[in-house]
Amino acid sequence: MNRLLSLGGVNQAEKDTLGCKPVSPRQPSRIRVPMIEYEFGVPIPGEVLPEEQWAKTGIKRLPESGPLNWLEIFGREAPVVLDLGCGNGRFTLASAVAHPEWDHFAIDLLPVVIRYATRRANQRGLSNVRFAVKDAQTFLTTYVATESVSQVHIYHPQPFHDHQRAHMRLMTPAFLADVHRVLQPGGHLFLQTDNPDYWAYIRDVMPVFFAFEARHTPWPELSEGRSRRELLGRARGLTIYRGEGVRRENLSRDDAMAEAERLPLPTFRTRGPWNELDAEEGEGGPQPGRRPGPRLPGPRPAGPGGFRPSGPRPRRGPGPGRGT
Ligand SMILES: C[S@@+](CC[C@H](N)C(=O)[O-])C[C@H]1O[C@@H](n2cnc3c(N)ncnc32)[C@H](O)[C@@H]1O
Repeated sequence: MNRLLSLGGVNQAEKDTLGCKPVSPRQPSRIRVPMIEYEFGVPIPGEVLPEEQWAKTGIKRLPESGPLNWLEIFGREAPVVLDLGCGNGRFTLASAVAHPEWDHFAIDLLPVVIRYATRRANQRGLSNVRFAVKDAQTFLTTYVATESVSQVHIYHPQPFHDHQRAHMRLMTPAFLADVHRVLQPGGHLFLQTDNPDYWAYIRDVMPVFFAFEARHTPWPELSEGRSRRELLGRARGLTIYRGEGVRRENLSRDDAMAEAERLPLPTFRTRGPWNELDAEEGEGGPQPGRRPGPRLPGPRPAGPGGFRPSGPRPRRGPGPGRGT
Protein backbone atom coordinates (compact mmCIF):
# COMPACT_ATOMS: atom_id res chain seq x y z
CA MET A 1 0.00 0.00 0.00
CA ASN A 2 1.22 3.45 -0.81
CA ARG A 3 2.68 4.63 2.50
CA LEU A 4 1.87 8.21 1.67
CA LEU A 5 -1.78 7.42 1.31
CA SER A 6 -1.95 5.36 4.50
CA LEU A 7 -4.46 6.50 7.11
CA GLY A 8 -1.94 5.70 9.80
CA GLY A 9 -3.29 2.36 10.99
CA VAL A 10 -7.02 3.06 10.53
CA ASN A 11 -8.60 0.21 8.57
CA GLN A 12 -11.32 0.45 5.92
CA ALA A 13 -14.17 -0.37 8.28
CA GLU A 14 -12.98 2.32 10.64
CA LYS A 15 -12.65 4.80 7.78
CA ASP A 16 -16.26 4.18 6.83
CA THR A 17 -17.50 4.72 10.37
CA LEU A 18 -15.44 7.83 10.77
CA GLY A 19 -16.70 9.38 7.61
CA CYS A 20 -13.02 9.87 6.92
CA LYS A 21 -12.30 10.84 3.38
CA PRO A 22 -9.55 12.34 1.32
CA VAL A 23 -10.16 16.03 0.79
CA SER A 24 -9.27 15.78 -2.88
CA PRO A 25 -9.50 12.26 -4.30
CA ARG A 26 -8.15 13.36 -7.67
CA GLN A 27 -4.77 14.48 -6.37
CA PRO A 28 -1.80 12.54 -7.77
CA SER A 29 -1.08 9.43 -5.72
CA ARG A 30 2.43 10.56 -4.75
CA ILE A 31 1.06 13.49 -2.77
CA ARG A 32 -0.21 12.70 0.72
CA VAL A 33 -3.94 13.35 0.72
CA PRO A 34 -5.16 15.09 3.90
CA MET A 35 -7.59 12.83 5.76
CA ILE A 36 -10.47 14.67 7.37
CA GLU A 37 -12.92 13.12 9.85
CA TYR A 38 -16.57 14.11 10.02
CA GLU A 39 -19.09 14.00 12.83
CA PHE A 40 -22.71 14.49 11.79
CA GLY A 41 -21.39 15.88 8.52
CA VAL A 42 -19.27 18.54 10.22
CA PRO A 43 -15.49 18.19 9.89
CA ILE A 44 -13.51 17.50 13.01
CA PRO A 45 -10.75 20.10 12.79
CA GLY A 46 -7.24 18.95 12.09
CA GLU A 47 -5.92 16.27 9.86
CA VAL A 48 -5.12 12.64 10.65
CA LEU A 49 -1.33 12.53 10.24
CA PRO A 50 0.92 9.60 9.35
CA GLU A 51 1.63 7.52 12.45
CA GLU A 52 5.20 8.69 12.86
CA GLN A 53 3.88 12.21 13.51
CA TRP A 54 1.38 11.26 16.20
CA ALA A 55 1.55 12.90 19.61
CA LYS A 56 0.96 11.62 23.12
CA THR A 57 -1.82 13.65 24.68
CA GLY A 58 -3.32 11.42 27.36
CA ILE A 59 -2.38 11.60 31.02
CA LYS A 60 -3.13 8.13 32.31
CA ARG A 61 -2.91 8.94 35.96
CA LEU A 62 -2.88 12.34 37.57
CA PRO A 63 -0.42 12.67 40.46
CA GLU A 64 -1.68 12.01 44.01
CA SER A 65 -1.53 15.67 44.83
CA GLY A 66 -1.56 18.89 42.90
CA PRO A 67 -1.53 21.50 41.64
CA LEU A 68 -0.39 20.62 38.13
CA ASN A 69 2.59 22.52 36.79
CA TRP A 70 1.60 23.74 33.32
CA LEU A 71 5.17 24.65 32.44
CA GLU A 72 6.31 21.09 33.20
CA ILE A 73 3.38 19.52 31.33
CA PHE A 74 3.57 21.59 28.15
CA GLY A 75 7.23 22.56 28.25
CA ARG A 76 6.52 26.24 27.74
CA GLU A 77 4.69 29.21 29.19
CA ALA A 78 1.44 29.87 27.35
CA PRO A 79 -2.16 30.74 28.19
CA VAL A 80 -3.94 27.65 29.52
CA VAL A 81 -7.47 26.74 28.40
CA LEU A 82 -9.57 24.21 30.35
CA ASP A 83 -12.49 22.19 28.94
CA LEU A 84 -14.45 20.61 31.81
CA GLY A 85 -16.77 17.71 30.92
CA CYS A 86 -15.20 17.71 27.46
CA GLY A 87 -17.04 14.64 26.10
CA ASN A 88 -15.42 13.50 22.87
CA GLY A 89 -13.19 16.58 22.88
CA ARG A 90 -14.50 18.28 19.75
CA PHE A 91 -14.12 21.76 21.21
CA THR A 92 -10.64 21.18 22.60
CA LEU A 93 -9.39 19.64 19.36
CA ALA A 94 -10.73 22.56 17.37
CA SER A 95 -9.32 25.17 19.72
CA ALA A 96 -5.92 23.44 19.83
CA VAL A 97 -5.75 23.36 16.03
CA ALA A 98 -6.89 26.98 15.68
CA HIS A 99 -4.70 28.27 18.53
CA PRO A 100 -1.30 26.59 18.62
CA GLU A 101 -0.22 29.47 20.85
CA TRP A 102 -2.51 28.23 23.69
CA ASP A 103 -2.21 25.08 25.81
CA HIS A 104 -5.33 23.02 26.48
CA PHE A 105 -6.23 20.65 29.30
CA ALA A 106 -9.53 18.77 29.03
CA ILE A 107 -11.14 16.34 31.45
CA ASP A 108 -14.25 14.21 31.69
CA LEU A 109 -15.61 11.69 34.14
CA LEU A 110 -16.01 8.99 31.53
CA PRO A 111 -12.88 7.07 30.51
CA VAL A 112 -14.39 6.01 27.17
CA VAL A 113 -14.88 9.57 25.92
CA ILE A 114 -11.39 10.53 27.00
CA ARG A 115 -10.00 7.56 25.06
CA TYR A 116 -11.64 8.82 21.86
CA ALA A 117 -10.61 12.43 22.46
CA THR A 118 -7.04 11.38 23.20
CA ARG A 119 -6.84 9.22 20.13
CA ARG A 120 -7.97 12.04 17.87
CA ALA A 121 -5.57 14.53 19.42
CA ASN A 122 -2.73 11.99 19.11
CA GLN A 123 -3.53 11.38 15.46
CA ARG A 124 -3.45 15.11 14.78
CA GLY A 125 0.00 15.42 16.36
CA LEU A 126 -1.18 18.08 18.80
CA SER A 127 1.45 19.05 21.36
CA ASN A 128 -0.71 21.72 23.02
CA VAL A 129 -3.38 19.36 24.40
CA ARG A 130 -3.68 16.95 27.32
CA PHE A 131 -6.66 14.83 28.30
CA ALA A 132 -7.33 13.11 31.63
CA VAL A 133 -10.17 11.28 33.35
CA LYS A 134 -11.35 13.19 36.41
CA ASP A 135 -14.45 14.85 37.77
CA ALA A 136 -14.38 18.59 37.26
CA GLN A 137 -14.87 19.45 40.92
CA THR A 138 -11.85 17.45 42.14
CA PHE A 139 -9.85 18.54 39.13
CA LEU A 140 -10.23 22.21 40.02
CA THR A 141 -9.85 21.94 43.78
CA THR A 142 -6.86 19.56 43.71
CA TYR A 143 -5.06 20.18 40.44
CA VAL A 144 -5.53 23.75 39.30
CA ALA A 145 -3.58 26.49 41.05
CA THR A 146 -5.15 29.83 41.88
CA GLU A 147 -5.12 32.33 38.98
CA SER A 148 -3.32 29.91 36.67
CA VAL A 149 -5.62 29.62 33.63
CA SER A 150 -6.89 32.10 31.08
CA GLN A 151 -10.11 30.40 29.92
CA VAL A 152 -12.54 27.79 31.23
CA HIS A 153 -15.04 26.19 28.83
CA ILE A 154 -18.04 24.17 29.94
CA TYR A 155 -20.27 22.91 27.15
CA HIS A 156 -23.57 21.26 27.98
CA PRO A 157 -23.00 20.26 31.59
CA GLN A 158 -25.08 17.20 32.27
CA PRO A 159 -28.48 18.34 33.55
CA PHE A 160 -29.29 15.17 35.56
CA HIS A 161 -32.99 15.73 35.06
CA ASP A 162 -33.91 12.87 37.36
CA HIS A 163 -34.54 14.91 40.50
CA GLN A 164 -32.83 12.34 42.70
CA ARG A 165 -29.60 12.92 40.83
CA ALA A 166 -29.81 16.71 40.89
CA HIS A 167 -27.03 16.77 43.50
CA MET A 168 -24.65 15.63 40.71
CA ARG A 169 -25.10 18.86 38.74
CA LEU A 170 -21.82 20.61 38.14
CA MET A 171 -22.81 24.26 38.16
CA THR A 172 -23.12 24.82 41.89
CA PRO A 173 -22.19 28.14 43.50
CA ALA A 174 -19.16 26.45 45.16
CA PHE A 175 -17.97 25.19 41.80
CA LEU A 176 -18.39 28.62 40.19
CA ALA A 177 -16.44 30.16 43.07
CA ASP A 178 -13.65 27.69 42.29
CA VAL A 179 -13.74 28.59 38.58
CA HIS A 180 -13.42 32.22 39.72
CA ARG A 181 -10.38 31.24 41.84
CA VAL A 182 -8.47 29.45 39.06
CA LEU A 183 -8.99 32.13 36.42
CA GLN A 184 -6.34 34.77 35.99
CA PRO A 185 -7.44 38.40 36.25
CA GLY A 186 -9.42 39.11 33.10
CA GLY A 187 -9.95 35.36 32.56
CA HIS A 188 -13.04 34.11 30.72
CA LEU A 189 -15.62 31.42 31.39
CA PHE A 190 -17.58 30.11 28.37
CA LEU A 191 -20.78 28.24 29.00
CA GLN A 192 -23.39 26.58 26.90
CA THR A 193 -26.46 24.38 27.44
CA ASP A 194 -29.60 23.30 25.61
CA ASN A 195 -31.52 22.96 28.86
CA PRO A 196 -33.60 26.10 29.54
CA ASP A 197 -34.07 25.27 33.22
CA TYR A 198 -30.34 24.87 33.77
CA TRP A 199 -29.83 28.10 31.83
CA ALA A 200 -32.27 30.00 34.06
CA TYR A 201 -30.31 28.86 37.10
CA ILE A 202 -26.97 29.73 35.51
CA ARG A 203 -28.17 33.21 34.60
CA ASP A 204 -29.17 33.80 38.22
CA VAL A 205 -25.91 32.80 39.86
CA MET A 206 -23.25 33.62 37.27
CA PRO A 207 -23.34 37.43 37.69
CA VAL A 208 -22.20 37.08 41.30
CA PHE A 209 -18.81 35.77 40.16
CA PHE A 210 -18.53 37.00 36.57
CA ALA A 211 -19.53 39.91 34.40
CA PHE A 212 -21.75 37.62 32.38
CA GLU A 213 -23.34 38.18 29.01
CA ALA A 214 -25.67 35.88 27.14
CA ARG A 215 -24.94 35.40 23.47
CA HIS A 216 -27.85 34.95 21.12
CA THR A 217 -26.03 33.71 18.04
CA PRO A 218 -23.43 30.98 17.53
CA TRP A 219 -19.87 31.82 18.48
CA PRO A 220 -18.09 33.33 15.48
CA GLU A 221 -15.32 30.76 15.87
CA LEU A 222 -16.70 27.24 15.21
CA SER A 223 -20.10 28.62 14.26
CA GLU A 224 -21.25 25.20 12.99
CA GLY A 225 -21.12 23.99 16.57
CA ARG A 226 -18.51 24.01 19.26
CA SER A 227 -19.21 20.58 20.65
CA ARG A 228 -20.79 17.24 19.80
CA ARG A 229 -23.80 17.97 21.97
CA GLU A 230 -24.32 21.33 20.27
CA LEU A 231 -24.36 19.59 16.88
CA LEU A 232 -26.88 17.07 18.19
CA GLY A 233 -29.05 19.67 19.90
CA ARG A 234 -29.16 21.89 16.84
CA ALA A 235 -30.02 18.93 14.61
CA ARG A 236 -33.00 18.26 16.91
CA GLY A 237 -34.11 21.88 16.77
CA LEU A 238 -33.22 22.65 20.39
CA THR A 239 -32.34 26.19 21.39
CA ILE A 240 -28.70 26.58 22.40
CA TYR A 241 -28.09 28.99 25.27
CA ARG A 242 -24.62 30.51 25.29
CA GLY A 243 -22.84 32.93 27.55
CA GLU A 244 -19.46 34.36 28.37
CA GLY A 245 -18.30 35.64 31.73
CA VAL A 246 -15.28 37.70 32.70
CA ARG A 247 -13.94 37.08 36.20
CA ARG A 248 -15.01 39.76 38.66
CA GLU A 249 -11.92 41.40 40.09
CA ASN A 250 -13.63 43.05 43.04
CA LEU A 251 -14.53 39.71 44.63
CA SER A 252 -12.01 38.34 47.13
CA ARG A 253 -11.66 34.61 47.71
CA ASP A 254 -13.38 34.96 51.11
CA ASP A 255 -16.24 36.93 49.57
CA ALA A 256 -16.62 34.37 46.76
CA MET A 257 -16.83 31.56 49.30
CA ALA A 258 -19.35 33.48 51.38
CA GLU A 259 -21.48 34.03 48.25
CA ALA A 260 -21.22 30.34 47.44
CA GLU A 261 -22.66 29.53 50.88
CA ARG A 262 -25.49 31.99 50.46
CA LEU A 263 -26.64 31.16 46.93
CA PRO A 264 -29.21 28.44 46.17
CA LEU A 265 -28.15 25.04 44.87
CA PRO A 266 -29.21 23.93 41.35
CA THR A 267 -32.22 21.93 42.51
CA PHE A 268 -34.49 23.05 39.64
CA ARG A 269 -36.85 20.57 38.06
CA THR A 270 -36.61 20.16 34.33
CA ARG A 271 -38.93 18.60 31.81
CA GLY A 272 -39.00 18.92 28.03
CA PRO A 273 -37.72 17.50 24.74
CA TRP A 274 -34.13 18.24 25.76
CA ASN A 275 -34.55 15.58 28.46
CA GLU A 276 -35.51 13.03 25.85
CA LEU A 277 -32.27 13.68 24.04
CA ASP A 278 -30.42 13.19 27.34
CA ALA A 279 -32.22 9.89 27.88
CA GLU A 280 -31.35 8.74 24.37
CA GLU A 281 -27.79 9.72 25.02
CA GLY A 282 -27.78 7.55 28.13
CA GLU A 283 -27.38 10.38 30.59
CA GLY A 284 -25.10 9.42 33.42
CA GLY A 285 -25.16 5.72 32.59
CA PRO A 286 -27.92 3.17 33.04
CA GLN A 287 -30.79 4.10 35.28
CA PRO A 288 -32.78 1.22 36.70
CA GLY A 289 -36.38 1.11 35.57
CA ARG A 290 -35.91 3.83 32.94
CA ARG A 291 -37.01 3.27 29.40
CA PRO A 292 -35.66 5.47 26.63
CA GLY A 293 -37.97 8.32 25.70
CA PRO A 294 -39.57 8.58 22.26
CA ARG A 295 -37.24 9.60 19.46
CA LEU A 296 -37.38 13.22 18.47
CA PRO A 297 -37.95 14.26 14.89
CA GLY A 298 -34.90 15.54 13.09
CA PRO A 299 -31.80 14.20 11.38
CA ARG A 300 -30.16 11.17 12.89
CA PRO A 301 -26.54 11.48 13.81
CA ALA A 302 -24.10 9.87 11.43
CA GLY A 303 -22.23 7.98 14.13
CA PRO A 304 -23.11 6.05 17.28
CA GLY A 305 -25.09 8.30 19.57
CA GLY A 306 -24.57 9.09 23.16
CA PHE A 307 -21.94 10.56 25.34
CA ARG A 308 -20.23 7.62 23.69
CA PRO A 309 -18.28 9.39 20.97
CA SER A 310 -18.85 8.71 17.32
CA GLY A 311 -16.17 6.87 15.42
CA PRO A 312 -14.52 3.51 15.67
CA ARG A 313 -13.58 1.78 18.88
CA PRO A 314 -10.04 2.62 19.90
CA ARG A 315 -7.79 -0.37 19.29
CA ARG A 316 -6.55 -2.29 22.27
CA GLY A 317 -2.87 -2.55 23.01
CA PRO A 318 -0.38 -0.81 20.82
CA GLY A 319 -2.03 1.34 18.19
CA PRO A 320 -3.81 4.63 18.06
CA GLY A 321 -5.06 4.27 21.62
CA ARG A 322 -1.59 3.91 23.04
CA GLY A 323 0.17 6.75 24.72
CA THR A 324 -2.95 7.66 26.61
C1 LIG B 1 -23.94 16.42 27.74
S1 LIG B 1 -22.29 15.80 27.75
C2 LIG B 1 -21.45 17.15 26.95
C3 LIG B 1 -20.10 16.77 26.44
C4 LIG B 1 -19.40 17.86 25.65
N1 LIG B 1 -19.01 18.98 26.48
C5 LIG B 1 -20.29 18.33 24.53
O1 LIG B 1 -20.83 19.45 24.64
O2 LIG B 1 -20.46 17.59 23.57
C6 LIG B 1 -21.82 16.01 29.43
C7 LIG B 1 -20.45 15.44 29.75
O3 LIG B 1 -20.10 15.80 31.09
C8 LIG B 1 -19.48 14.70 31.71
N2 LIG B 1 -19.64 14.92 33.15
C9 LIG B 1 -20.76 14.81 33.91
N3 LIG B 1 -20.49 15.17 35.17
C10 LIG B 1 -19.18 15.51 35.21
C11 LIG B 1 -18.30 15.96 36.23
N4 LIG B 1 -18.72 16.13 37.48
N5 LIG B 1 -17.02 16.21 35.92
C12 LIG B 1 -16.56 16.02 34.64
N6 LIG B 1 -17.34 15.60 33.63
C13 LIG B 1 -18.63 15.35 33.92
C14 LIG B 1 -20.17 13.48 31.13
O4 LIG B 1 -19.38 12.32 31.27
C15 LIG B 1 -20.38 13.91 29.69
O5 LIG B 1 -19.30 13.53 28.88
